[in-house]
Amino acid sequence: MTQRWLAERRNEYYYRKAKKLDYRSRAAFKLLQIDERFRLFEEGDKVLDLGAAPGGWLQVAVDLVGPEGRVVGIDLKSVKPVEGASSIVGDIRSTESMRELRRLLGGKADIVISDMAPNISGAYSTDHARSVELCEYCLAAADSMLREGGRLIMKVFQGDLMNGLRLDTERRFDNVKVHSPDASRKTSSELYIIADGFRGSDVEEIEDEVEEIKPEFTKKGTFL
Ligand SMILES: C[S@@+](CC[C@H](N)C(=O)[O-])C[C@H]1O[C@@H](n2cnc3c(N)ncnc32)[C@H](O)[C@@H]1O
Repeated sequence: MTQRWLAERRNEYYYRKAKKLDYRSRAAFKLLQIDERFRLFEEGDKVLDLGAAPGGWLQVAVDLVGPEGRVVGIDLKSVKPVEGASSIVGDIRSTESMRELRRLLGGKADIVISDMAPNISGAYSTDHARSVELCEYCLAAADSMLREGGRLIMKVFQGDLMNGLRLDTERRFDNVKVHSPDASRKTSSELYIIADGFRGSDVEEIEDEVEEIKPEFTKKGTFL
């Protein structure tokens, strides 16, 4: 049995499992495994999911935070509605989208999760640089939308800019770890930065009247 054959069998396993359990993506298992290990979600949490399509992480987050929680996502692509969550089509780099997310969340998030990935060019260093750029936007989103003490899960493609990104994360959070869940493809260069103890930010908050809207949340389901 070759390594490649084993890796393919493993990927196939998660793909089938996702189908069977009705998850939109095999990525759902990565989030489940990350939470199993780091216990990052709490009941009643407000969750901001960046790069949410097709919705696997939204499904998992809804179950983890329960009926008192709130889960809001954004993606460039539209997400088929997930019961208990709301999402918008938009670009994380746009202030307008940030404003809309803030309005939907009805306050600051307890946890920001990002599985964002750039369009893959196939050129390793380009894809790495674009992934790090998305992570920097994710940190900027945390600056304006994460509460003090809040938590972060953020995907990045490995490469030489990783140290700088880690430092940028460490400047903001008390605890930072880098982790590769078992459900990530063995051939993949992706890693997850896991952080808690957000120190808060001096960044001016997006001035907005935060409407206390209550979307229809019908169903729903500790540390480093
Ligand atoms: C790997 S997928 C996310 C899978 C998702 N976590 C799930 O479980 O279904 C990465 C997503 O990041 C989104 N993305 C990339 N750049 C983005 C940006 N600038 N703003 C919003 N979403 C972005 C892509 O459209 C893509 O759907």
